[in-house]
Amino acid sequence: MVCLGNICRSPLAEGILREKLKDTDAEVDSAGTSSYHVDEAPDPRAIKIGRKYGVNISDLRGRQFTVSDFDRFDRIYVMDESNYANVVELARNEADKNKVDFLLNELEPSSNREVPDPYFGGDQGFENVYRLLDQATDEITKKVKHGG
Ligand code: 4NP
Repeated sequence: MVCLGNICRSPLAEGILREKLKDTDAEVDSAGTSSYHVDEAPDPRAIKIGRKYGVNISDLRGRQFTVSDFDRFDRIYVMDESNYANVVELARNEADKNKVDFLLNELEPSSNREVPDPYFGGDQGFENVYRLLDQATDEITKKVKHGG
């Protein structure tokens, strides 16, 4: 799960999916394309919305996406167009590039819809983000648990 800062959208996506896949051997992680918040805890608003729905992300810490993530992961989900451009820029070949997709394409294939950046908004933005992440990670969970 990749966003810009790795303190709002992607740690929430990681926490939600981790919870849904806890009885599988899938590895779930998140990163930011920027180094702005490396080693920082998630934004307090992200921690709060997670807690409201029973997902504890308070122990997660920011890290920056690196090219080695293409080797560690089969699928790389980005939140928005700028994340997509920044991650694809690091791809070494077509196989790397083919691992990258918009998270919301799990809900609406090929829509390239964005999970809006909630950083500069209020709590309602985080409610909206949580709902989108919950729906999209349901689709991933179905695929992991039922193959495909
Ligand atoms: P995120 O949100 O990409 O969902 O973690 C942001 C966090 C920090 C900043 C921007 C977006 N920032 O500019 O510091």
